[in-house]
Amino acid sequence: MNVNMDLLEAIRRRRTTNTPFSPEPVSNEHKRLLIETATRAPSHFNSQPWRFVIIEDKARIQAMANIAGDSMKRLMDEGAFVSRYRRYFRFSKQETAKTNSGIYIDNVPFFLRPLIKLVFSDNVGNLLSRLGASRILARDQRKIVENTPMLLAIVLDKQEYKPGELSGLYASITLGAVIQTFWLVTTSLNMGMQFISTPLEVKDNRERVETLLHIPAQYELVAIFRMGYKDSNAARNTIDWTSNQRKSITDLVHYNEWGTAIPPELATARSLLWDEEHGTNTRN
Ligand SMILES: Cc1cc2nc3c(=O)[nH]c(=O)nc-3n(C[C@H](O)[C@H](O)[C@H](O)COP(=O)(O)O)c2cc1C
Repeated sequence: MNVNMDLLEAIRRRRTTNTPFSPEPVSNEHKRLLIETATRAPSHFNSQPWRFVIIEDKARIQAMANIAGDSMKRLMDEGAFVSRYRRYFRFSKQETAKTNSGIYIDNVPFFLRPLIKLVFSDNVGNLLSRLGASRILARDQRKIVENTPMLLAIVLDKQEYKPGELSGLYASITLGAVIQTFWLVTTSLNMGMQFISTPLEVKDNRERVETLLHIPAQYELVAIFRMGYKDSNAARNTIDWTSNQRKSITDLVHYNEWGTAIPPELATARSLLWDEEHGTNTRN
């Protein structure tokens, strides 16, 4: 794969990879390229507040997979997953088109199809562990992590990362720049990546990960990713989603002041990202 993929091409193709990767280990050259490119990101006063843990040890990956699966089960069973994220779930193309945001749960086992809205609705309590969906989601989550060739954990220096303070905001901004670079460079290498956020959402499991990785107290664990080379034949998870839709420039941008629409010439200008001449339009 051409490492020098055109920037717009990498942006067009970038996606969360929520299918299994090829078992092939990530080459050392590629790991080095990923770290060196990501850390070209801007940071306030060039503070470089991020550190990384590359995890390839099978036993640790298995332990992380177990923690991720357990976290998903608990978040579902306790209702936290649904109550926190219900507003992002979409169950049809029409519902998705209304907001052009959120995730469309488009892959659901046959027996759950008529009930899927119920599974992801508030106030159903534990209803048979949400009709078995929590067990399926937990198994999917464990399996997809245990079969990954590499995990990447990112930590931030707590001297810089102080939530609620300006330095906390600045550290979050540079973290985003680092992550987007990882995402674009993995895309250019025919690799994929996926956030594994569930362990960070269950307090004792977050601590288990910090212990497993020997993260010093001075650093805050802020993100965990799966990474690997894409496998075009990989099967989808039992319950799965897509989220390629985006709001339009007119929905997102105001002109000179809040509430004033952008000029029509801007709204209808040729899209250099999506025009036919730039190859397949993969927006939808
Ligand atoms: C802070 C953050 C946390 C996320 N956590 C998860 C996660 O736990 N699992 C997952 O599959 N995707 C996760 N995502 C990915 C988003 O769901 C995804 O970026 C969004 O749906 C758009 O899809 P795309 O990345 O394919 O364009 C996360 C993204 C961000 C920025």
